[in-house]
Amino acid sequence: MTETITQTDTVALRLLIDGQWVEGTGRRLESASPTNPDHVLAAGGTATAGDVQDAMAAARAAAAGWAATPMAERGGYLSRAAAIVSANADAWGTELAREEGKTFAEGRGEVLRAAQILTYYSAESDRLAGEVFSSPRRGERILVTRKPLGVVGVITPFNFPIAIPAWKIAPALVFGNTVVWKPASTVPLLALRLAEALVGAGLPAGVLNLVIGPGSLGNEIVNHLDLDGLTFTGSTGVGRMLAAAAAGSGVPIQAEMGGKNASVVLDDADLELATEQVLFGAFRSTGQKCTATSRLVLQDGIADAFLDRLAERLAQWQTGDPTDSAVHMGPVVSDSAAAEIRAGIQAAVAQGAIPRFEGDVSGLGPAFVAPTVLEIPAGEENIAWRDEFFGPVLAVRRAATTEEAFALANDSEYGLSCAVFTQDLTKALDAMETIDVGILHVNSESAGADPHVPFGGAKKSGYGPKEQGAAAREFFTHTTTVYLRGA
Ligand code: UN1
Repeated sequence: MTETITQTDTVALRLLIDGQWVEGTGRRLESASPTNPDHVLAAGGTATAGDVQDAMAAARAAAAGWAATPMAERGGYLSRAAAIVSANADAWGTELAREEGKTFAEGRGEVLRAAQILTYYSAESDRLAGEVFSSPRRGERILVTRKPLGVVGVITPFNFPIAIPAWKIAPALVFGNTVVWKPASTVPLLALRLAEALVGAGLPAGVLNLVIGPGSLGNEIVNHLDLDGLTFTGSTGVGRMLAAAAAGSGVPIQAEMGGKNASVVLDDADLELATEQVLFGAFRSTGQKCTATSRLVLQDGIADAFLDRLAERLAQWQTGDPTDSAVHMGPVVSDSAAAEIRAGIQAAVAQGAIPRFEGDVSGLGPAFVAPTVLEIPAGEENIAWRDEFFGPVLAVRRAATTEEAFALANDSEYGLSCAVFTQDLTKALDAMETIDVGILHVNSESAGADPHVPFGGAKKSGYGPKEQGAAAREFFTHTTTVYLRGA
């Protein structure tokens, strides 16, 4: 790396503006571990509105030079960054587990996934092909070429603190945009690590700028006159507010928001497979994935047997310190998130939900939430069925028929992902036709995404173009149609 930040017990947070690591002059931020709040992983001054102005100015100044850099060279920075990220998988995976709360295995896996995403986009210049159309006029061809948007704002959530930033920043950069990035203030250390990797790869000054601080920095970015595009993943409320602001100034936005994803287990399913995949989908990463399974639809014939199997597996599911290799599930991201989730469970039970499994988190800190399975009686409304809790809570309903099961899967304003468990090809094909989601899994859990295929939701889960694969090119570039005739 060209510049490293000394690793002491508490890492010094820095902003990255115009190629310089600078101390923010705003309020001091301390990133504490949700497992043990006395452990402060990183601390430093946050960015002010003035720092965002400086970051935007640096990104604007760097934009023309970066756009003119050959795509293969831009990709070279990404592949060098990927090597740095993967070389640090153990260390940064541990930091991720401490800072965010997912297990070390998941944290390390996420760091390697960030490297995989950087590697995938580094090769984009080998894939990118243009289009040449015929013309109705003699001596003419019509070409469609692509250009970067310019300065792109990137606003990322806490739950994948390095992979989601990578899957936004890598395509933004390789397609020739410069970036101002605001990560969630709960996970600044992992943001710093990704920025370090890109700086270490030799990225020119101003091409990536990192501003760490409160949500209000997002407003500074979206309202900035120099902004040419905005990509966001996070809560539905913030996403809609950003989309409204972006629309007000005519800036294209890509927003990935809420999910209330169902797993549907039909009578003919392989129950062992389905139980394990529902367990992973609902409770890995403590349920904090926008693609997590938070609703379960069981067909009557297997419902009791399935709930028994799930309870058996959950009884073995260890909750505790996420860096302990025997542990399956850590805390949620913060004490306040845990308190909200627990209040949601109480409200659901008060509305008539029947607890089918409640784990034990006694003796663990206030950020721990017990894995919880709640059955919702037929025909009753329930908050646990409707609202995204973003925690280890699974709401279950029963269905008599496949049709009823698919209708229940669709019974949400959201439509991000869904998992269907069946061994019957006809039913799988019906699911493809009937279930209105952006991502459908047949016989695998509702979470998971590969970098070369589109990712994003139907209905109220997403706004604007999808992410990843060819979809990323659609968002991060605009086309110029060239009528080309010899003179
Ligand atoms: C995954 O399912 O592995 O915020 C990725 C999220 C999604 C990413 C999910 N945008 O959880």
